[in-house]
Amino acid sequence: MSELFAGLQQLLGASHVQSCEQAAPYLTDKQGHYVGAVLAAVHPANTQEVAAVVRLCVQHNAPIVVQGGNTGLMGAATPDASGTAVLLLLDRMNRVREVDTDNDTLTVEAGCILQSVQDVARNAGRLFPLSLGAEGSCTLGGNLGTNAGGTAVLRYGNTRELTLGLEVVTAQGEIWNGLRGLRKDNTGYDLRDLFIGSEGTLGIITAATLKLFPLPKAQATALLAFESLGQAVEFLSHARAGFGASLTAFELLTADCLALLREHFPQGPQPFIKATQPWFALLELSDNHSDSHARDAFETVLGEAFDAELLADALIADSLAQSEALWQLRENMSEAQKRAGRNMKHDISVPISRVAEFVEHTDALLQAHFPGVRHYTFGHLGDGNLHYNVAHPIGSTVEAHMAHYEALSLLVHDSAHAHGGSISAEHGIGQRKLAMLPRYKSAVELDLMQRIKQALDPRGLLNPGKVLLSQNVKGNA
Ligand code: MLT
Ligand code: ZN
Repeated sequence: MSELFAGLQQLLGASHVQSCEQAAPYLTDKQGHYVGAVLAAVHPANTQEVAAVVRLCVQHNAPIVVQGGNTGLMGAATPDASGTAVLLLLDRMNRVREVDTDNDTLTVEAGCILQSVQDVARNAGRLFPLSLGAEGSCTLGGNLGTNAGGTAVLRYGNTRELTLGLEVVTAQGEIWNGLRGLRKDNTGYDLRDLFIGSEGTLGIITAATLKLFPLPKAQATALLAFESLGQAVEFLSHARAGFGASLTAFELLTADCLALLREHFPQGPQPFIKATQPWFALLELSDNHSDSHARDAFETVLGEAFDAELLADALIADSLAQSEALWQLRENMSEAQKRAGRNMKHDISVPISRVAEFVEHTDALLQAHFPGVRHYTFGHLGDGNLHYNVAHPIGSTVEAHMAHYEALSLLVHDSAHAHGGSISAEHGIGQRKLAMLPRYKSAVELDLMQRIKQALDPRGLLNPGKVLLSQNVKGNA
């Protein structure tokens, strides 16, 4: 047994320290792309224990990787295969520290499952609006570490916009208590925003103070059909003006996505089965009036859009059950693709005004280089964020297709970049996009990032090999 392993056991108790073999379930990422190894996996009970673990790791020069629900898509929470890292699991840190309804804030620990954070808010008569497919298993710490997006960003913003304060254990094992429930605080550099989205490379987020919102009294859902993506984008402008703040989600699907959902979820809803339109959008309205008010708003705004030929067809859910069934379509999309076999995932964003141009250009480019590949484009049109996923051509194999992953992704990412976009809108960088980053960020921006990393984690022990190439961190062992 190594000295570090014994020290961790002494610190946390033997039952909260696992060997590499015992930690196996945590060592493969969700996609099955990355398999790591660890010296130990530890389950500290509180922030003081996290800080003590970090100090011990520093003494032994051991890298520290923090993992939440292991639902990330970029391999950010999987350690490398060297077996030298300590994996930090915050599952025992799932306490609610404070609910302050006058301030509309909630302070919770990073190991809380997102769905339980939503439930705590709801039980207090409030809404915590972060909402994503993995909410039943992802943790708040992971959401903060990746600045998670999801389906309500259009109205409420990303995790960053939902966070007022943080508690962080630094790379030196100190505790920064920044759990401020302040909506205004202009007292220098914004450390909070530095840690959010840093994927465990700058510090370990152990708790957060989150913004709460009024619980909407009414909700309404509609699935709309469009003749073109350009028409859907034009309609989005119309919808923003017509619905105002009550427009909560605007999610894109294609006819091919709906066909894939029918194939892999035959018991699920089958709307627009005879439709000829290629593009669809799932809209959610929520307001403080009544369901009939929300439905009326849909009817008015959709009626105007039909008159202006901004819309081809519409289905307004007439019950909560139907609304949930429509949402299931969107939520099952990733799983439908998984069932269909591996495909090339992309998570790009471009300015909304350039979405249609991006898709038209990139589809044509891919067909020219990789004839017959199939496009499953869906996602958060209201945020200009598309999951531009590409499956193998009929008659070819998944393996043959995946052999071109790097080359094909390069075309997609170059195109997103050329359209003023990002190669990672909401999934982060992790290991998957690490080597690509220098192609799309200026030397100045990368250097600033390196200098921040150097300042906060000079030994390069926090989640090495993620976000930034760690050999560039001066002093890295
Ligand atoms: C989604 O929006 O469904 C996810 O971010 C995409 C995915 O899981 O591939
Ligand atoms: Zn998404």
